[in-house]
Amino acid sequence: MGKELEYLDIAVKGWMHEARAKILAAFDEDLDVWTKSGRNDLVTNVDKEVEKFYSKNIHLLSPEANIIGEESFTQADLNMDGLTWFVDPIDGTMNFVKQHSHFVSMIAVYENGKGLRGYIYDVIEDKLYWGGPDIGVFCNNNKMRAPDNVFLKDGLIGIGAPYLIHNFFNLQAVALASSGTRIYGSAGIQIIHVIEGKCAGYVSYLRPWDFAAGKILAETLGLSVKMIDGTPLNMLISSDVLVATKNAQKDIAKLIKKS
Ligand code: IPD
Ligand code: CA
Ligand code: CA
Repeated sequence: MGKELEYLDIAVKGWMHEARAKILAAFDEDLDVWTKSGRNDLVTNVDKEVEKFYSKNIHLLSPEANIIGEESFTQADLNMDGLTWFVDPIDGTMNFVKQHSHFVSMIAVYENGKGLRGYIYDVIEDKLYWGGPDIGVFCNNNKMRAPDNVFLKDGLIGIGAPYLIHNFFNLQAVALASSGTRIYGSAGIQIIHVIEGKCAGYVSYLRPWDFAAGKILAETLGLSVKMIDGTPLNMLISSDVLVATKNAQKDIAKLIKKS
């Protein structure tokens, strides 16, 4: 699989760099913006075009592959047999529309349920975080070191805004026990902060394409990626996900309450 994965890395990085050029070019045009489940859940013509572009290339590279992409998702026949690709063309679409920054593009590849590769591209910073259990994690060409195993009291915590506002799982107590709370509006950006050691953890309700790439990168760096109650994640189900250092995960487990 070694050579095949090397080839995969070259291919995926090439698509993501092409996607970056398409995304940046879109800032010169008027975006088409639609709402999905509610007024704060947006999709644009760029989300749709980038997902189509990735899907076309994935099918050319691996015709049998199963693709779970945010903008083309249907519930039918979900399984993790063989190769499964998770695609979130733009994560943080609200930021993409309102700020032209603080969003990422994400791809993950699993084989029979095992994470092979995660790719999270911070498009504006031009930083591609990528890797897998066999090679470690890189930011562009630089190998990343595992973040320090900090306790909750010594680190910042990312929390999805509704969870903090409504105190789901007693997360206000978690926020108060930490060094401070950070909310960026992109799961990918928040997970980057945890793998870089800038935050001790991140918790939010996430869909499979929101956490698939981050799970591979974070676990490769020795972080804990589980449901907030400590149970393992099901890759095909949306969950309350906690990505954290192992010490912060234990601290948070003592503070959370069922919602
Ligand atoms: C959303 C962002 C947001 C998270 C939501 C996601 P999208 O992704 O990651 O931070 O709180 O749960 O759906 O819709 O912009 O790809
Ligand atoms: Ca998205
Ligand atoms: Ca997303």
